[in-house]
Amino acid sequence: MKAQDSTDLTRVGPGTVMGEFMRQYWIPAALSSELQADGDPMRLMLLGEKLVAFRDSQGCVGIFDHRCPHRCASLYLGRNEESGIRCVYHGWKFDVRGNCVDMPNVPARQEFKDKVHAKAYRTTERNGLVWVYMGRQQESPPPLPNIEANLIPGNEIWCLQRECNWLQALEGDIDTSHVGFLHVGMLKPEDLDDDHPMRPTVINRAPEYEVRNTDWGTMYGGFRTNDDGQMSWRVAHFMFPFWTQTPNARFSSRAIARAWVPMDDHHSMLFDISGGVDEGNPAYVSKRRNGQPLYEKFEYEPNTNDWHGRWRCRDRAHNDWGLDRQSQRDGTQYTGIGNITIQDQAVTESMGPITDHDWEHLAPTDQMIARTRRRLLLAARAYRDSGELPPGASDPDTFMGARAGSFLFAPDAPLEQAYQAQLEKAVRWTAQPEERA
Ligand code: FES
Ligand SMILES: [Fe+2]
Repeated sequence: MKAQDSTDLTRVGPGTVMGEFMRQYWIPAALSSELQADGDPMRLMLLGEKLVAFRDSQGCVGIFDHRCPHRCASLYLGRNEESGIRCVYHGWKFDVRGNCVDMPNVPARQEFKDKVHAKAYRTTERNGLVWVYMGRQQESPPPLPNIEANLIPGNEIWCLQRECNWLQALEGDIDTSHVGFLHVGMLKPEDLDDDHPMRPTVINRAPEYEVRNTDWGTMYGGFRTNDDGQMSWRVAHFMFPFWTQTPNARFSSRAIARAWVPMDDHHSMLFDISGGVDEGNPAYVSKRRNGQPLYEKFEYEPNTNDWHGRWRCRDRAHNDWGLDRQSQRDGTQYTGIGNITIQDQAVTESMGPITDHDWEHLAPTDQMIARTRRRLLLAARAYRDSGELPPGASDPDTFMGARAGSFLFAPDAPLEQAYQAQLEKAVRWTAQPEERA
């Protein structure tokens, strides 16, 4: 990969190619549960910008550049008062839209307050998720994307910070051939029950798959012929600008979406959203034939007020992600790391804060990664050069074309046919008009 391609893909600050492209989309900012009405303001790092988030007395969320527009004191220190945040330096108060509603240190006759605005971004909420639009303030934001997992009331959302660039974090989700090694390399077929969901991966660690461009990004379909002659498919997606859908659940009845939101060039926040029929993550609910669980749970560090203090796990680079050489040797885990998510964290963070793409040798197995990079680069540069965006930026239902998961289908059917037939049979969720702010 050319150095310029690598730079354009990975850098997300204001004025960068990818950063400006991402700012044309609504971005998951926080869990709704992280902000209480009239509660403490929260530091928030997004796309390299230091922001402050708070929820006002009416329940609306404000997300601002953290610097007060007066003399740049941090509004994180501010008082979340009746219907607005008040800077503690000279008492200026702002509502969630950034309007200055009180300027008590300036004589009223000088009428200065209407001339000042905090740099406030548009926000909205849906099903437990706070969204922010960081595009140009004079332009009205596009509709919220209909990412299906976010349309399910009572869905499950969890966050996890990954201490590396967003692209390498995301690519772990579409790197299908790692599963047979990183996660199940310690297993032999006889270690698992015959109907165990991981068994096909253990039997064949070099899966065949096909890749396609889609309106929402890219997709792949991995396929294997079963013992009974049926074709077993695993379909997964990349969705603009930083979403994936992984193929671990049953296609027909569950929706999953994972956002790899760049905090800055070196830190990403995963929002993992899922809903529908919950059969439990096979990684946790299932065991080896001998009754031993496949993986342990992971633990979080308590959240702090630092820019990078939210949703970090205990096992990180500082302790080699909890690596236990004995467990690596005796076959408990291929990696020696007990949790499946931390296994992913370890390998992607170990690449360094931003992967040196010049060092890589992508193989034919990495075609989904190569295709997705190309698609992202072309889309981001098209926006830079002509203002043109992929269809999902303005048509929220574009993303409804994407559903991931595993299913069986007749042999010899092409990916498109097998996928469409499953999509038509699947349980789907649609948007409710429940947006706020
Ligand atoms: S710096 Fe905020 S009111 Fe003066
Ligand atoms: Fe993984």
